[in-house]
Amino acid sequence: MKFFVDTADTAAIAELKELGMVDGVTTNPSLIMKAGRDILEVTKEICDMIDGPVSAEVVATEAADMIAEGRKLAKIAPNIAVKVPLTWDGLKACKTLTDEGHMVNVTLCFSANQALLAAKAGASFISPFIGRLDDINLDGMELIADIRTIYDNFDFQTEILAASIRSANHVTEAARIGADVATVPPAVLHKLAEHPLTDKGLDAFLKDWEKTGQKIL
Ligand code: G3P
Repeated sequence: MKFFVDTADTAAIAELKELGMVDGVTTNPSLIMKAGRDILEVTKEICDMIDGPVSAEVVATEAADMIAEGRKLAKIAPNIAVKVPLTWDGLKACKTLTDEGHMVNVTLCFSANQALLAAKAGASFISPFIGRLDDINLDGMELIADIRTIYDNFDFQTEILAASIRSANHVTEAARIGADVATVPPAVLHKLAEHPLTDKGLDAFLKDWEKTGQKIL
């Protein structure tokens, strides 16, 4: 499974990159707002840091304007994936930008039919939002499983990018079901390393080690 980092925080990306954890980055208008940076400037900086796809989202709502914004974003670097919302206009923009050779990430996906349309429009990535479905008492993982089945049935090459990941369990489940990518906020990525039995075991080992009076270095 590929890990994308869901942030526009370049310091967080740099730290995770050193560990080899970053196969790509996703941003959205809320994350750009949170970073407090100019979209073109921060996205360029991220693209220079990361070899894999870096998603940058359009904010227009009409297809023609989305396409114009997408073309401008795609000029930032060759590894840009233009992110468009899953609306009818977004699908039109996806088809045009894909035909022009750009990677497109179709975002704000909340149903299997939406995912099917994105694949038909040639999307490189589909982003089903797990956490936001769970928020309204629906099952985000069921959506990932449905999309996996449908894409496999027809051999669609669109990658399933599990988004709106809020917990370590979301990552485990998305990996188990076979999402191609999980885009994970840095704090959740850190949580993946945590286990109380690891902490307890380490504590016991260190206490016993102290009793030996030995040193390795
Ligand atoms: O990748 C999409 C993600 O940023 C949305 O997450 O937690 O705002 O639903 P969230």
